[in-house]
Amino acid sequence: MKIQAVRGMQDLLPRKKKIFRFIEDKVRDVLDSYGYREIGIPVLESTDLFCRLVGEATDIVEKEMYTFDDRNGDSLTLRPEGTAGVVRMGQERGLLFNQTQRLWYAGPMFRHERPQKGRYRQFEQIGVECFGMAGPEIDAELLFITYRIWQVLGFADGVKLELNSIGSKACRLEYRNKLVSYLSRYRDALDQDSLRRLDSNPLRILDTKDSATRDLLKDAPVVTDFLDRESRKHFDGLKSLLDQRQVPYNINGSIVRGLDYYNNTVFEWVSNDLGSQGTICGGGRYDGLVEQVGGRATPGVGFAIGLDRLAMLLEDHCETSSECDIYVASLGKIGKEKSLLLAEDLRVGLKNIKVIVDCTEAKLKSQMKKANADGARLAIIIGEEEATKGEVIVKHLETGLQSQVSFNSVTDYLAKALPEG
Ligand code: HAM
Repeated sequence: MKIQAVRGMQDLLPRKKKIFRFIEDKVRDVLDSYGYREIGIPVLESTDLFCRLVGEATDIVEKEMYTFDDRNGDSLTLRPEGTAGVVRMGQERGLLFNQTQRLWYAGPMFRHERPQKGRYRQFEQIGVECFGMAGPEIDAELLFITYRIWQVLGFADGVKLELNSIGSKACRLEYRNKLVSYLSRYRDALDQDSLRRLDSNPLRILDTKDSATRDLLKDAPVVTDFLDRESRKHFDGLKSLLDQRQVPYNINGSIVRGLDYYNNTVFEWVSNDLGSQGTICGGGRYDGLVEQVGGRATPGVGFAIGLDRLAMLLEDHCETSSECDIYVASLGKIGKEKSLLLAEDLRVGLKNIKVIVDCTEAKLKSQMKKANADGARLAIIIGEEEATKGEVIVKHLETGLQSQVSFNSVTDYLAKALPEG
């Protein structure tokens, strides 16, 4: 029996991984320019953390977590998301009280969802979490950051910001009651999932995919009509900042997010080009979360970007540079040895140069074919004769021109032959 990858777990082949790295580099540059600091959070946390912070009645906790007992009998869970871990870490390591923090992390998350295009059981996120700032300015900063990332990656025109405010706990409770009493009148028409959520988590009904339930929701009460003064002020402040910076957005009352910890601002960035799994980033404010891990009330807000989905958007457009500037081909035992040693000198002597050494016994012709296939600009050829004479042949692959160069002057020769960049 062949052993295969576990369902929903992706193998990232070199081309895909390269796109991931391209994205990560760009996102990192943007985050650096806003003064955000990178942190690392464990892949494993105690199960209790997610049950309490993400919420017992969410899809994630109800049915998607990879949970197991370790050898000590402790219940652990592979992180389904990063915010809970960051809040736990911030509280445990004393990063939160009386301080402001702008933090980010990257890595794999795990959810036992039904796999499909753009939805995996192991997927990559880049997440950002900010603490200690209660006003709408930091919410706006996060949306500026995300918008900037899409611009830098070149697809800002193809994504939409769906924005909503779900207000404070008190106004949400009032809204929840109104929504439940409205939907209760149509119990018979609700789909199974929504009917179940009517008692456990009615706000989640708002993002149902069922068309009959969606029709019912057209006349349902809207959360933004229930915002109290403070929540409304916060939301207006955020919208005004987005307007001033001309970040386009759409107020969407059905954005409530699938995790329980949010209050006030919630948002999702959705791409038109990804089909049903088009949300490339989601986030919002979570002012009550730090208290839930035993800390003092600390405002928090953040988002996470789904890297797998961004990579899908860039797949066909992403021009990634070649792996190879110089390909070193050789023949015979001494030629092989010399080529490996010369390549070390080149990497030390020339800045940002990518050198691949042919370590096969292949004929020179197929080594040169490989040089072309790898996108090299130059090939260095060391045959037995050159090796004994202390020389190499440098061949310009585009023009076919070649020169004999002595071993000691190869680095200087190449420094001139290879234009910057
Ligand atoms: P989330 O909406 O659950 O939020 O996930 C954020 C993003 O991760 C999604 O928009 C999507 O791009 C990607 N994603 C989620 N599930 C999958 C999957 N199964 N396969 C591929 N990509 C996926 C959070 O995780 C929150 N922690 C975000 C946050 C941070 N809120 C405040 N701070």
